[in-house]
Amino acid sequence: MPGPRPTPRYPNFRFRPADVFNRLYNPTGRYQPWEYRFPYSANEFDFVFLTSVFTHMLPRDFENYLAEIGRVLKPGGRCLSTFFLVTDDTLRTAERTGQLRLVPQKNHFVHNPKVPEAAIGFRPEYVLEQYARTGLTVDLPIHPGQWCGRAEGLTSHDVVVATKTSSAARTRSASGATGLVHHLASRVAWTSRLVRTAFRRPAWLGAPPDVVIRARRFARQNPHLFKPQ
Ligand SMILES: C[S@@+](CC[C@H](N)C(=O)[O-])C[C@H]1O[C@@H](n2cnc3c(N)ncnc32)[C@H](O)[C@@H]1O
Repeated sequence: MPGPRPTPRYPNFRFRPADVFNRLYNPTGRYQPWEYRFPYSANEFDFVFLTSVFTHMLPRDFENYLAEIGRVLKPGGRCLSTFFLVTDDTLRTAERTGQLRLVPQKNHFVHNPKVPEAAIGFRPEYVLEQYARTGLTVDLPIHPGQWCGRAEGLTSHDVVVATKTSSAARTRSASGATGLVHHLASRVAWTSRLVRTAFRRPAWLGAPPDVVIRARRFARQNPHLFKPQ
């Protein structure tokens, strides 16, 4: 599809500006991020990537974008995205190192409550749950980044790679229930017991069993993320 080409070096690339509101990056944006529909048909892409974008989007907006990614990916297509995945361990590390400090909100974390979009973090169990709802299976392990002051890390952000394994299961009306679950979860110390509980999902949430298995495997493979306080 024709479109503006910012660079002639890669003529096979097509760029489509998305005039979507973001308080920090596009305060006059025409479309709202929680309802924006990607201008592509379903099952069109092999690969979607977004670096340092979900770290500037609020939960409802992230949920819509993830659903859209699930829609436009071909079955078997993959998505690479980055996050600030917040655990008790990352909060302590950030406090100790003076790196990115994130303060809790209703079901996410922000660096600056006056400009939330400046930096937004999510609990990993919430992110995994959203991927599951969208028919995307996270390819474990997640790759922790250095953003909180960790000595080791693949890159600055936490990197999540996922594969579209089923048609989108998520509906927008599901996000209310998800928000409630996360709200409750965020009020309990994040011990490994909670992680087990968080992924023992009630049937009405409809999480596929392989997601539960992978989430548990993730917990086993990343014990440093699940240290009790
Ligand atoms: C920190 S910059 C990262 C830019 C680039 N992806 C990179 O990795 O260098 C954050 C980017 O997210 C984009 N962004 C924020 N909210 C968005 C939204 N709702 N839809 C599309 N892009 C968004 C901003 O326009 C900005 O380019």
